[in-house]
Amino acid sequence: MRLQAALFLLAACVPSATAVFKDEVDHVDFHHALLGIPSVDTTFFLRPSASSSASLLYTLSEKSILGAVNPRDGSIVWRQNITRSSLSAAQQQQQQQQQGFLRGSDESNTVVSAVGADVSSWSAVDGKLVWENRFAGETVADLEVLEFEDASHPATVKDTIALFAGAVGTVRRFDGGSGDVKWEFKDQSGDLPFQVLSSPAEIYYISLHSVPSKGYKIKITSLDPLTGKPGQQYVLSSENEVAGPESVLFVGANNASPLVVWADKLHKTLKVNVIGSKQVHTITIDNESGEEIRSITVHASRKLNSLPHFLVQYETESSSWADVYHVDLKASTVSKAYHLPRTQERSVFATSNKDANVYFTRMSESEAAVVSSASHGILGRWSLQSPSTERPLHAVAEVVVKGDSVALRSAVVTESGDWHLIQNGQSGWTRYEALAGALAATWVEADDQEELAHELEVEGHQSLLGAYFHRVKRHVRDLQYLPDWLRELPSRVITSVFSDEVTNLDSFGINMPVIVATENGRVYALDTGKHGAVAWSVKAAEGQGTWDVRTIVTQPGSATVYVEDGSSVTLNTTSGAILSRTAPTTKTKSFAVVKQDASSPVVIGVKEDGTPLDAINGAGFLVTLGDDGRVRGWTAADNKYPVWEFAPPEGQRIVRATARPAHDPVASIGKVLGDRSVLYKYLNPNLALVTAVSGSTASFYLLDAISGQLLHASTQRGVDTTQPIPSVISENWFAYSFYGDAVQEGDARGYQLVVAELYESPTPNDRGPLGSASNYSSLFGAEPLPAPHVISQAFVIPEPISHMTVTQTRQGITTRQLLCTLPASNSLIGIPRPVLDPRRPVGRDATALEAEEGLFKYHPFLEFDGKWYISHARDVAGLSTVLSRPTLLESTSLVFAFGGDIFASRVNPSQAFDILGKGFSKLQLVLTVVALAVGVVILAPMVRRKQINAVWKASS
Ligand SMILES: *[C@@H]1O[C@H](CO)[C@@H](O)[C@H](O)[C@H]1NC(C)=O
Ligand SMILES: *[C@@H]1O[C@H](CO)[C@@H](O)[C@H](O)[C@H]1NC(C)=O
Ligand SMILES: *[C@@H]1O[C@H](CO)[C@@H](O)[C@H](O)[C@H]1NC(C)=O
Ligand SMILES: *[C@@H]1O[C@H](CO)[C@@H](O)[C@H](O)[C@H]1NC(C)=O
Repeated sequence: MRLQAALFLLAACVPSATAVFKDEVDHVDFHHALLGIPSVDTTFFLRPSASSSASLLYTLSEKSILGAVNPRDGSIVWRQNITRSSLSAAQQQQQQQQQGFLRGSDESNTVVSAVGADVSSWSAVDGKLVWENRFAGETVADLEVLEFEDASHPATVKDTIALFAGAVGTVRRFDGGSGDVKWEFKDQSGDLPFQVLSSPAEIYYISLHSVPSKGYKIKITSLDPLTGKPGQQYVLSSENEVAGPESVLFVGANNASPLVVWADKLHKTLKVNVIGSKQVHTITIDNESGEEIRSITVHASRKLNSLPHFLVQYETESSSWADVYHVDLKASTVSKAYHLPRTQERSVFATSNKDANVYFTRMSESEAAVVSSASHGILGRWSLQSPSTERPLHAVAEVVVKGDSVALRSAVVTESGDWHLIQNGQSGWTRYEALAGALAATWVEADDQEELAHELEVEGHQSLLGAYFHRVKRHVRDLQYLPDWLRELPSRVITSVFSDEVTNLDSFGINMPVIVATENGRVYALDTGKHGAVAWSVKAAEGQGTWDVRTIVTQPGSATVYVEDGSSVTLNTTSGAILSRTAPTTKTKSFAVVKQDASSPVVIGVKEDGTPLDAINGAGFLVTLGDDGRVRGWTAADNKYPVWEFAPPEGQRIVRATARPAHDPVASIGKVLGDRSVLYKYLNPNLALVTAVSGSTASFYLLDAISGQLLHASTQRGVDTTQPIPSVISENWFAYSFYGDAVQEGDARGYQLVVAELYESPTPNDRGPLGSASNYSSLFGAEPLPAPHVISQAFVIPEPISHMTVTQTRQGITTRQLLCTLPASNSLIGIPRPVLDPRRPVGRDATALEAEEGLFKYHPFLEFDGKWYISHARDVAGLSTVLSRPTLLESTSLVFAFGGDIFASRVNPSQAFDILGKGFSKLQLVLTVVALAVGVVILAPMVRRKQINAVWKASS
């Protein structure tokens, strides 16, 4: 207690707002800027402008993030989120499932993307938007950049053609400079619009003409590039093989010999049509493996002037092979050139160009090889430095040929979602793009620290003498580690004197690994001490598809991931080894963790309808939200009958329920006012805040979770209930934010942040009706709980907040910060609580007494101070959840944010009052002490002699 009091004094003495300084960036924090898993066909190497010599790696990811990556180090050059923010969440999800398109051309300075109804052009160098065009109600089905020159533009501006599927199929040509539509062609025939492509002289529109009860005929219509007028049209009799769009294996590419390739359902023959001729070539598929052919992929160069060669890749469950074909343009024939032998490994192929030459790169799990399309001789072959254990999904490659030697740079996306750069077989960088789909995360529980924490806790609560003996005993026990410690001492002295950070904080729980579970079924461990490097990553889900992780619970040494289907996986947090699994049971909405003393936490699943799945023998209390829109309270020992039920008024829908964090210590039960009187806080550990909406009102209900009693209710009118309404509750206060009517009469609508504090009584030094009660044993109390006295205040904030949480420290002495994610500016801020004090005087300056308390004049507009930005100048995009965790240092709280990017930092809301700062030089201190000692040694005899002489002089 004394220690607490001392720390409290210390914390109170320092100003509450601290900033992340520039030299601390990258030191106290780390950031993984992510794109999401790169999609096949929208990932390529491209020179950003016709004049640049080096290329960048462009991708449009599964998360609809468009970005350019520097192939040298894997850093992001630029990125754009091309999901429309005006769409609702459901529409956004739909958009993400739609296919996205990304095209570029080496001669132009832009890349063109299309998702949903939008087509946009971006500067390839810096990602600035050049133009965009939207066609509501239609969906882009295909997109191509026209390679041929247009007299109206410089050679670096290329027009784009896009095919839209709506009521009818529409082909549009967009001006490369402005995005205006030059012409459009509407297909009124009722065919299924399929693809567009271009050859040097023509544009082709491909549609699928349905033949009832058979399949589809492929219809090819040529369009005049200048006017869009349809010309020649022909139909291929493919109805016996083509059952739907997925049966057509390839349409492309934009070159001299565009092709349509399809195969029958049994994968027995391949049909090839060189677009422009009506002839269909039949290729018999050689079923050499004796296994079922899973997939056939066609690769061809997209360049206008490249050789008309293409590669067909066959893949079975465990092996793959390929054949290369040449097209004779004059005779319109297709002939097999050579065969790339089957390997008992899965491999992926990539196509690259050098002038007219085409190169095919084969990336298998253990090897990379390059061949020219012209002949079968292998130009280069490298065994991979670190063979992948994951199946490669797709790859892009860049081949440089100098005389006889070739150099290869390839970027491979594996099934795990990792993006590897491999240079001549040597591993380059790896981007863990699956982390963009993080659904749950938590810090690892370290056992030794837990022990120390426990010991310190004991000492903190004992009498002075008791604590002293306890500590002596602890140190005697610690003596067993002395020999090891002595052995490490020299290196520790050296590192601690010369290292950046004065105090090595590892032993204070600052660098705790974080376990992250992602939607693609993987679990990662991030080493926060090494800038979030991935310590291990494992596939933890058994099936395919999205892994709907609900929560992760850690115990010392292991972590258990709980999934929506009721299953769970337990992993070793050191090695990532899977220790155990439980099978799926019931569809589960959430998991409640009941922490009981001295035993590992018990996890109870909650069904969709809000009933707990199990009852446990012991104390604990659950509050659930059912799908019927009611909130219920349960004792952990009974999952049949709820103790209470709360239904919002008719017409209101509950959107959110929050409770105080599990770890929410309160350092002081009252607030000391300027005149030394005390305002007692209303401290109920079982508070729950329920948000309900109806039409344009939002209501907030404060409940006691044990009795279900409504303690306080407030309603806001004129709220945009389609926007997020985040809320948070901690200690004796809660906060929420929304977009709604003005705080003051006459102001415009805006984003608001409302803070409410709960006190026992409006008068200082009065404990109200609770005065004599020693605790809040509300369930068994005969009397209903007295209602809190609520003081609230609203602030207008400059931008929306998507998620809120509160910093946590060990003892709650340090001032709290309200952590808010700002999606509009891609940042994370920590608003100091004193700024949000609802008792700030309104309409007048603070009196001397109020100023002493730290209050200052209320102003409705709350400007976000630059010092509050925890993310500093970083662009942290898409954060959906922010976690906070205490460390063994009272001053320091850990922050981890995920959802899109991954960002972690540590904050000192009341400054680092228990850590030596970076400016403190141990070396200087040591040198000073040494210099003083030397001085004393030299000066002491001199002084002594002088004194003796003085005595002699005086007496003589
Ligand atoms: C190839 O051979 C295997 C085994 O004989 C058979 O199952 C499969 O259907 C055949 N054909 C294809 C196209 O996979
Ligand atoms: C986890 O793995 C580490 C290293 O392989 C091992 O030392 C430890 O005993 C394992 N822990 C558990 C709980 O299995
Ligand atoms: C709360 O007070 C009641 C009666 O005053 C007592 O029975 C109960 O043990 C107390 N609970 C705690 C947690 O102190
Ligand atoms: C992209 O933008 C949409 C809409 O604003 C948003 O919902 C999504 O979280 C963003 N994604 C990322 C990764 O920033």
